[in-house]
Amino acid sequence: MKRDWLVLLPLLLAGSHASEIENVGKQRLSKKFHEHAHVSGGGIKRQRPTKEYMYVYDMPAKYTADIRKLSPEWHPDQYDFDQVLHEHFQNSRVRTEDPEQAQLFMIPVYLGRYYNWFWQQWSTPGNPWDIVEDCEPRHRAGSPECWWEKWMWAKGNTSELVREALQHVKASHPHWEKHNGANHFMVFSYDHARCDMALTLRLSEMGQMFSIQSYGDLTLTNEPKVPPIIQRWQENNYTWGQPRSWACFRPDADVLVPMYYEFDPKDVVSPFVGERSVSMLMRFAYTEGDGKNLVEHYGHRLRHEIIEYWKADPLEGSEQGLKTPEETDADMARSLFCVCAPGATQDTTRLFRAILKGCIPITFFRANDLPFARYLGVPYEEFVLNIQPDDYIQLNSKMQRILDSPTRLRHMQEALEAHQRHFLWSEGAEGGVLFNIERELSVRAAMVTDTPHSVFR
Ligand SMILES: *[C@@H]1O[C@H](CO)[C@@H](O)[C@H](O)[C@H]1NC(C)=O
Ligand SMILES: *[C@@H]1O[C@H](CO)[C@@H](O)[C@H](O)[C@H]1NC(C)=O
Repeated sequence: MKRDWLVLLPLLLAGSHASEIENVGKQRLSKKFHEHAHVSGGGIKRQRPTKEYMYVYDMPAKYTADIRKLSPEWHPDQYDFDQVLHEHFQNSRVRTEDPEQAQLFMIPVYLGRYYNWFWQQWSTPGNPWDIVEDCEPRHRAGSPECWWEKWMWAKGNTSELVREALQHVKASHPHWEKHNGANHFMVFSYDHARCDMALTLRLSEMGQMFSIQSYGDLTLTNEPKVPPIIQRWQENNYTWGQPRSWACFRPDADVLVPMYYEFDPKDVVSPFVGERSVSMLMRFAYTEGDGKNLVEHYGHRLRHEIIEYWKADPLEGSEQGLKTPEETDADMARSLFCVCAPGATQDTTRLFRAILKGCIPITFFRANDLPFARYLGVPYEEFVLNIQPDDYIQLNSKMQRILDSPTRLRHMQEALEAHQRHFLWSEGAEGGVLFNIERELSVRAAMVTDTPHSVFR
């Protein structure tokens, strides 16, 4: 959902389950730790050498355990896939404890939590977005300017943590050098990935390191003044080597994943189960005017446009209006189509929740890669209706055409059902997110170590 959380803040604070997740994670982790210790202690690990391609650096507590103790006021667990993946890979069968055998190296740093904790150090208790402490003299306490200042400090200091982590890896281990970091990765779990979290690093520091992230926008922007969707791409350019100008996403190297959400296999609803009485669901809002709303700042006026469009001409059987995430999930399970308007970035976790609830997503992507499409071939076009942002006024007519063709609707629902399982984060889910990430990483491992040489010289 990305920035929808801003709008839902009061609801979230009331019903947050972030700490619950942490506890579940801990239990899962300690159980597996024992299993793992037993297995490696017994020397069994050598039985599957070809599958063991990943070495996980044991980073100082400063980068992991200590960050878990920091307590931000507002921190949706969607940003914790850095922690989820660390836990997963520590216990995964693709892990090797022998760096000489490894093809890929994970540098675990819990950046998601760190980033949110950082700017919230100056927050008002109970209202993290209200920042009244230590505002610059020219900034009024509680003003958007004071808030933005802390937000930029969070970017700067998170970058500093990345810088230190890389320096540590380079100084304490010999493995970075060999491929200039190309076989190393970090998880950048914030909205704009390394353009939020490693903003001040230079290309020479990052080397060829790739990332696991959920930001797949090909139009390159982390600059609030250049909204990615509504305006034409202009000011930014791909002048590599300058901190602000390198791409936030490298499609040839980075691995895209959905933001994290907890969803059990039993929560998945087939498109063919139950009555789908809502034709088109629009459970999102658009808040204007407080200066801190990133949805507004990042220029996604599209939400506003779509809501106004709906008010003027609501499709028969459609519903609009914001509700809690739980209510929205329930509503998705009784809807045929779910409109997934952009958040702070082009995609939102709403897209994946709609898929899991059997609701055909309607998206407004322009040049945006999605998880597991490019390398694993998940055919989103078969079960997602994408409308170019400029064409949003065709929403009703495009919808109506599908509703008028039961065969086409059924084909989309069949394709949706066939691909739902790819989007489950649950540990052990057959063909789920974790499994797909491992598959895609094994492709990266082969790319790095057996780089194909061009026949064109
Ligand atoms: C890091 O945060 C401190 C405040 O704790 C701030 O003074 C400093 O400018 C920040 N550093 C960067 C690089 O943004
Ligand atoms: C590209 O961006 C850099 C850094 O912002 C700027 O210095 C340069 O003039 C830009 N180049 C073009 C061709 O716009």
